[in-house]
This record gives sequence, C-alpha cells and structure tokens, in this order.
Amino acid sequence: MGETSTQPPEDVRRSHEALCEAIERHTRLYYAEATPEISDFEFDALMGELEALEAQYPALVSPESPTQRVGGQPLVGFETVEHAVPMLSIDNTYNAGELREFDERVRRGLDGEAPVYVVELKLDGVAISLRYENGVLVRGATRGDGSRGDDVTANVRTIRSLPLRLKGTTGTFEVRGEVYMRHAVLEHINRQREQAGDPPLANPRNTTAGTLKLLDPRQVAERRLDLYVYDLVALDDAPPLPHSATLKALTEYGFPVNPNWKRCANIDEVLTCCDEWNTKRAELDYEMDGMVVKVESPEHRRRLGATSKAPRWVIAFKFPAQVARTKLNAITIQVGKSGALTPVAEMAPVLLAGTTVKRASLYNFEDLARKDLRVGDTVELQKAGEIIPQVIRFVPEERPADAKPFALPEACPSCGGLLHKDPDGVFIRCLNAACPAQFKERLEYFASRGAMDIDGMGPAIVDQLVDLGLVRSAADLYSLTPEQLANLDRMGEKSAANLVAALEASKERPLSRLLNGLGIRHVGNHIAEVLAARYNTIDALMAAPVEELSEVFEVGDIVAASVRDFFDTAENRELIQALRRHGVRMDEGPADSTGQPRLFEGKTFVVTGTLRKHSRDAIHQWIKQLGGRASTSVSGKTDYLVAGEKAGSKLAKAQKLGVQVLTEDEFEALAKGES
Ligand code: IVH
Repeated sequence: MGETSTQPPEDVRRSHEALCEAIERHTRLYYAEATPEISDFEFDALMGELEALEAQYPALVSPESPTQRVGGQPLVGFETVEHAVPMLSIDNTYNAGELREFDERVRRGLDGEAPVYVVELKLDGVAISLRYENGVLVRGATRGDGSRGDDVTANVRTIRSLPLRLKGTTGTFEVRGEVYMRHAVLEHINRQREQAGDPPLANPRNTTAGTLKLLDPRQVAERRLDLYVYDLVALDDAPPLPHSATLKALTEYGFPVNPNWKRCANIDEVLTCCDEWNTKRAELDYEMDGMVVKVESPEHRRRLGATSKAPRWVIAFKFPAQVARTKLNAITIQVGKSGALTPVAEMAPVLLAGTTVKRASLYNFEDLARKDLRVGDTVELQKAGEIIPQVIRFVPEERPADAKPFALPEACPSCGGLLHKDPDGVFIRCLNAACPAQFKERLEYFASRGAMDIDGMGPAIVDQLVDLGLVRSAADLYSLTPEQLANLDRMGEKSAANLVAALEASKERPLSRLLNGLGIRHVGNHIAEVLAARYNTIDALMAAPVEELSEVFEVGDIVAASVRDFFDTAENRELIQALRRHGVRMDEGPADSTGQPRLFEGKTFVVTGTLRKHSRDAIHQWIKQLGGRASTSVSGKTDYLVAGEKAGSKLAKAQKLGVQVLTEDEFEALAKGES
C-alpha cells in the first residue's frame, strides 16, 4: 500500500487521468446531452474507484477532479468580483411590429446590408458568468450590477451539467449563460417540503436565485440546478466567431447549449420561429419567457456597437403571459403537516392555459398583504411555469365598495391554538402538536401510497375518524372495527370490510414505508429508503447516535438531528410501541423479499407528462417494487416510456428511438400482469 504522502507513480497518474476523463464524459452524456451510456450503478462504481485512488494518493486531488464538485465548508459570505467584460442587458420587444422595427434599425446601422440572425430561447433563470483558465473552471459569478457580481464558484461547481474541465481546449475565456431549475426538480423539492411540513416554493426562477445565494454548497448540490450557456467572451485577441459557430464550439467543449436555436435568413423567418415557440414552450421542462434574437456576424455586431445599457445587435422578444380573470370567492387557510398556515384563494372556475383553475395557493400572508386581495375582488391569474396557477393582482376598477381587507388569523383556524411566526421567515405556524388539522394531514400522509398504502383511507374518511375521536394516533387506525367504519358517512359494510382488509395488509409494509409515513421532518420517501437500507430494523435505527446517523450517505446533520429528535420524543416512542403491538412490521428485510413478482426485472422505464391517476412517485415506486429501474432520461437503454398528457421532448425522443410508449392505463395493465 502506498503511503498517503508518496507521490503517485506514473501508472497511477495515468489511471487517475483515465478515470477522470471517463467520469467527465459520462457526466456530460448524462447531464448535458441526456444520452447516458452506463447505469447509475456503473457510474457510482467509477466514482468509488476514483475516490479510493485519491484517498490513497491525496496528491492527485485537484479542484477540477470530479470528486470535488461539492466543497467542504459553508461560506461566510460572497466576495464581489469584477467581470472582465461587463454583462449588459438586452432591450425588449413585445410584438411583431416592434421586432420589425428592430430589424429596420439593424439594417440602417449596417447601411442597408441584410443581417443573418440566430434565434434562441430566452431562458428564465439567473445569468451567470463562468471563467475558464487553461480549460479549467476558476470562477463563477452572478451578473450583479453588470460590472461587478458575487463570486458563487463553490455553488456553480455543484451543477452537474457544468464542465469543471473542458474538452478539446485549454483556452482562457468567460462563458455566459443561464442557471435555471427544471420543473421536475422544483416539483420534487416541493413534494419534499410538503412532507417536511414546509409551504411550497413558488417558481423555479426565484428558487434558482435563492439557491445560488445559499452559503452551504452542500445544500446547493441538493437543489439540482441546471445550466445552459449561450455566449463566449474571449479574454485575448482571438477573433470572435459567427454566433452559430460559437454555439457549436461551446457544445464541442462540453458545455450544455440549449439545442433549440435557429439560424434565420431574415426577420420573417425570425417571426415564424418566435411564433412556433410561443406554442411549443408548454412542452418544455423548464421556464422560458420569450426568444432572444441575435445578429450572427461578428463584423456586423462590431459595426452596430452598443448603447450604455445594451448591445444594438440583440433584442428580446417577450411572450405575453397567459392571463385569466375570475372572481375571488373566499380566502381559506390550509394547515400543513407541521403546522404551517397557507392562505388559499378559492375562485370561480376559469380556464387558463389548458386547465380549469379554481384554487391557488397564496403562499404566505406577507405575499397576500402585499397584493391586498379581498374577498369579492376580480383577480388576474397566471401560470408559473405553465403549471402552478398564481394570483397576480386584483383588478382595481372591479373592486366592490364593501370589500374588506383580509384579516390575519389570530389563532389556528382548526384548533384555535397559538400561532407563531418563523423568526427567519414569513411563515406562520400553529404550535399545537395535537392540532386536528395537522394530525389529519399526517394521518393522510401515513395512509398514502408512498407510505403505508392503505387503500380507501382518503381525506373524507380521515376527517370523520378524527372528528369523531375514533383515531387519536396513527396506531388507533389498527383498532378500528368493521362496525365503526360502516357507520361513517359514505361507507357501507362492503367498503368497511375492504378498509379493514387494507389496514391489515398495510401492516406488512417494509420499514422504509413506515419511516416515510411517520412524517419525520426532512425524511421523505428517499431518505426513508436510505435509512431502512442502512439499519434494517427500527430498533437499530432508534438506537443510532446522531453522529452515526449524520455519517450515513445522503443523510447529513440536519436530517440526522431531526431523526434523533423524533425518536427521542416520548410520544413518538409510544407510537412506535403501539404500532408494534398491533403487529406492524418493523424491519426492511432483504431487498428482494417483498413477495412481489419481479415482472420488470432488467427493464428501464421513464415516466413523463401529466398523469391522471397516480403520482409520478407512485409509478416510480411501483416500477422499483417489480424489480424495474426508473430513470429520468430517455436513451437507447430505455425499454418503456410511460407518457401522460403534455408529454414533450421525452416523448419525441422515445418515438425517435423506437422506445415503446405506454399510456398510464397500459402501464397499469402491464404492472398487474394483465397484458
Ligand atoms: S444573451 C448581451 N441569450 O436574459 C447579450 N440572454 O434580459 C447577453 N437570457 O441577462 C444576453 N436567455 O440572463 C442571452 N439565450 C439567451 C438568453 C439570455 C436568457 C437572459 C440573460 C440576460 C437577460 C436579459
């Protein structure tokens, strides 16, 4: 064995280099090009090898090694840094007429010469400047005021699609682009927040901006930010390339370049392209708010020059947001699993960008106060990211004379308990651990498909069970008799018997499902699986010291403290004992002992689009239970694509690759062995 201080022999250096290159290549294929060639398992094995090698020869570790994406210590603050070339902004246009005027200005500026344009998507994220020296990333900075921004290098390094070391160039330059968050990622974060009892984050752009400013890169890494680059700024006298050649070069170097750019011979082609994307934008898994039209030729750009604010050779064409008006009938308050109060707008149903909307979260009371919404108002709605409806404003002309401002609740609307404002946030919480609204949310979650999967235990039943005092803890569910259940509203003897059977069946769920169902803060489906795999029995987990927990891969200090805290609370220990007495299983068992047929053994699935019956998570779980693999990107290795409504690029890609496409119903039939 080599000493840690020894210089690595040449053959070790070579294998280290080969490993780094292989990992860089697979990272690029996976994150920048969405065409992975190896499984996650094989990838992890390569990383494991590299880590082992670097542990043995620390001299091999360099900042651009793939092992160094997530740095160690949180920062105290961000340094301000100067951009080598200022990051200018761009002027906006809002309709075809204004875009034609831009074209006329450009042609006048070029003494009548006709420019070629390149049209790109206008990504709605956060602008970033990335500095590479000798082909290696040395700095990432936000736009700031255009001349000086924040040094967020440690944070951008965690973006997997960002190359730490370039392919085929050792150049020194700055690359400009947009950091953004995919809708699927925000949805995932919001599901986790919901499980943790935190209100959802409103939109991907603000979440991206907030994430880039986090001081702990490890938290940033969890947020799965993404990147597209669209410009290269030379720092030497290298002659600038035509824009389309720059985009191609950036792609060659291994940068993620949004593929949806087009070279257009004239302004008519530009307008057609903009029109097309105004409709197609709904298919994208990320937000865009228009198109950017750029003059292709560097010589033309030079002649056009810039004003103090913006270059004259580029313009943004902003898409109109789709807006609907409706009546605000009421503002209700939802109490989440851990007590956070969220105001909700209840509206007269209205059609907006393809779906009927009648409820919209108002996020928090500060936001509501800022918008000064009042019951009886006519409000304007818009969709954030084409998915989540948001109330933008009330229409002043239509405000009824007697509309009263919304009064902040003085007590929890469910239990009358004391309210508390988060010291470092905008959320108001009910502090009563016994609050029935919170308890109902937790119970529903306990019974949900990703947890104990108690078929038939929906919100209507849970409401009654809690209101009638039949259930005071999750364990009480298991004492319910068919007679008690048959007496509930909308229940007959048959459904009562079914529910008792479903309760009985749920006792056999593996530990991971139980852990998920307990609603431990920060422990959702995935972390529950991680903990169950590590500890196998609840007793082992309950006995684990916090230091040990925090060492478990993917767990970390915050989750570890939360788990420890949960099991150190007497009430929770009693709950576990009561569940045990009822015969609820408390271990995970070997990975394959679920008794399920391994129907999907060796098959890889991708799920996309809006599903009607099941959540995407539920389908993923189902696939895994049957021995299959759930992936997020379509490649030659995908066996099936399960496509819901509005399936976009993944569907197109699957069709191109000849991957079998299933509807949700067809998938269900396949999973049940019916087809
Ligand atoms: S080019 C000098 N291209 O939009 C030209 N910008 O409103 C620099 N943006 O600050 C910008 N997508 O953050 C360019 N394909 C794209 C873009 C894009 C999004 C952002 C960028 C810029 C802002 C201007």
